Amino acid sequence: MRRPFVCGNWKMHKTIAEATAFVHELLAAPSLGAGAVDIAIAAPFTALAALEPILAGSRIALAAQNMHWAESGAYTGEISAPMLAELRVRYVILGHSEPREYLGETDASINKKIRAALAHGITPLVAVGETQEEHDAGRAIERVVHQTRAAFAGIAPHDVAKCVIAYEPIWAIGSGRVCTAEEANHTMGAIREALPALCDARILYGGSAKADNVAGLCAMENIDGALVGGASLTVGPFVDLITNAGSSS
Ligand code: 13P
Repeated sequence: MRRPFVCGNWKMHKTIAEATAFVHELLAAPSLGAGAVDIAIAAPFTALAALEPILAGSRIALAAQNMHWAESGAYTGEISAPMLAELRVRYVILGHSEPREYLGETDASINKKIRAALAHGITPLVAVGETQEEHDAGRAIERVVHQTRAAFAGIAPHDVAKCVIAYEPIWAIGSGRVCTAEEANHTMGAIREALPALCDARILYGGSAKADNVAGLCAMENIDGALVGGASLTVGPFVDLITNAGSSS
């Protein structure tokens, strides 16, 4: 039985002051005490150092939204795995469709980043997903299986097994158009079968996940939680989403 996992992805939202206020309020939410769901928050780089001491020893893990593959070097604007490890960042989102689209992220760079994260004890949360066009052409599974195999090419199965996958259909991100639980489960089953090492890995759904649809998603065999954008930005809806993700287990 895989434990449900909800990771908030704040994207480019929240100053340090906003991030710390949010986390204090989240930790004080009484219903978080139930403990049935693992929780992480992927904050902007600027907020990580401030959040680390607040989250230390709590139920909420710290996550980053991206990183570079090199240990250090002349990479202006980038952040390395050792920098994140020093802040006790537990997870890093890699391969999100936004850096794939806006920052030239490729399957090859994602592969290098996964290796670097693993080498520093940070768990990659690897995102895959098809475009609207690929979806409408019936090529979603082909696309995500390709992305999954490319992301993990040449990586040892025992390392692949440590990773978390997020299936995020691009057409569902921020659009309010959630993928049906049945379709997401079907596609996510194909991702799980893409590599034998993923048979017990946690696979999250992302794309307009909300408190009112997450229980139905998490009730499906291949859906182990959610990677949440918009609904992770305010405490009340995020707590409700976490509670409902736990209720389906
Ligand atoms: P939304 O939940 O806002 O659709 O964003 C999903 C996402 O991209 C999480 O990484």
